Amino acid sequence: MRILVCGGAGYIGSNMTAMLTREGHKPVVFDNLSKGHRTAVKDVEFVQGDFGDLGFTVQTLKKYNIDAVMHFAAFIEVGESVTEPLRYYDNNVSKTRTLLEAMEKAGVEKFVFSSTAAVYGMPDTIPITEDVVKAPISPYGETKWAVERMCGFQSQTGRLRYAVLRYFNACGAGFNAALGEDHRPESHLIPLIIQAAMGKRDNIKIFGTDYPTEDGTCIRDYIHIEDLCKAHLLALKKLESESEQVYNLGNGTGYSVRQVIDTVRKISGKDFSVIETDRRPGDPPVLTADATKARTELGWTTDYPNLEAIVESAWKFHTDHPNGYES
Ligand code: UFG
Repeated sequence: MRILVCGGAGYIGSNMTAMLTREGHKPVVFDNLSKGHRTAVKDVEFVQGDFGDLGFTVQTLKKYNIDAVMHFAAFIEVGESVTEPLRYYDNNVSKTRTLLEAMEKAGVEKFVFSSTAAVYGMPDTIPITEDVVKAPISPYGETKWAVERMCGFQSQTGRLRYAVLRYFNACGAGFNAALGEDHRPESHLIPLIIQAAMGKRDNIKIFGTDYPTEDGTCIRDYIHIEDLCKAHLLALKKLESESEQVYNLGNGTGYSVRQVIDTVRKISGKDFSVIETDRRPGDPPVLTADATKARTELGWTTDYPNLEAIVESAWKFHTDHPNGYES
């Protein structure tokens, strides 16, 4: 298939693009490079453009005869979404509405959308199944939920077939650790701990040690980027027969912040300073996925069920690229 990868120069989009190519698809990366890295896009068609630009997006969809769109171009910082909600509604909701309009105008029906565990807020039931009540506690989560609902309404018109994939904590590096995390500024736990281990930052801060968990720190479900991307291929295929799909993507195993720190220590062989600080607003204590639905309905399997292999791939990416994609 010819697939427009919106945000294909970013962390998840670039891994997805590489996987699409490997699997015989023809991806076209569409990215405004506001966050992504041109050098993360290797040997595929690249179009610099903004998915909020209706005319140019329609033109691009038509020019490349696109069959499906995968959308990875959202803003993803929960904290920033609290201080800049309008920016989040603009980029994540308004521009995605424009993208759906462009698809409609160009006659492209298939859409794979990156959603998030943040749509569940602070759920009472763990692990989380897809039908748990949606109660986002951040503008970020709200914007993703709004797009999910918009897709639902649009698909009822018969002009959209869509898959919503709710990611838990995407991490690690794909394609022999060539494609990894390089967010600026970085806010994600694993790359920050690795920076501490590499001596690029003085310490790693633990945000909260008084959570109702065994060691007092937050528990998350870390899912390797290649496993995540594999589910997109399966969902894309299933769009032939299924016009609406919603799946959680996680391993189902939770690791605490302290366990992640210990794993980086073990894999890197480095020690570094750890500072215990206050909770970060908006962090639920425990988020783990029940991904049974993706496993049974899509036949999804994961190759990186444990954290050590995930951290190993991330460590390789960061040590091979000490200055990220600028290396
Ligand atoms: N954390 C620290 N210190 C840090 C950074 C993070 O203790 O320096 C903690 C956080 O408080 C949290 C855990 O590490 O408990 C993971 O934090 P991340 O920022 O790496 O990831 P989040 O779980 O906050 O968010 C991720 C994605 C979001 C997505 C969310 C869904 O980044 O886009 O998962 O649960 F919405």
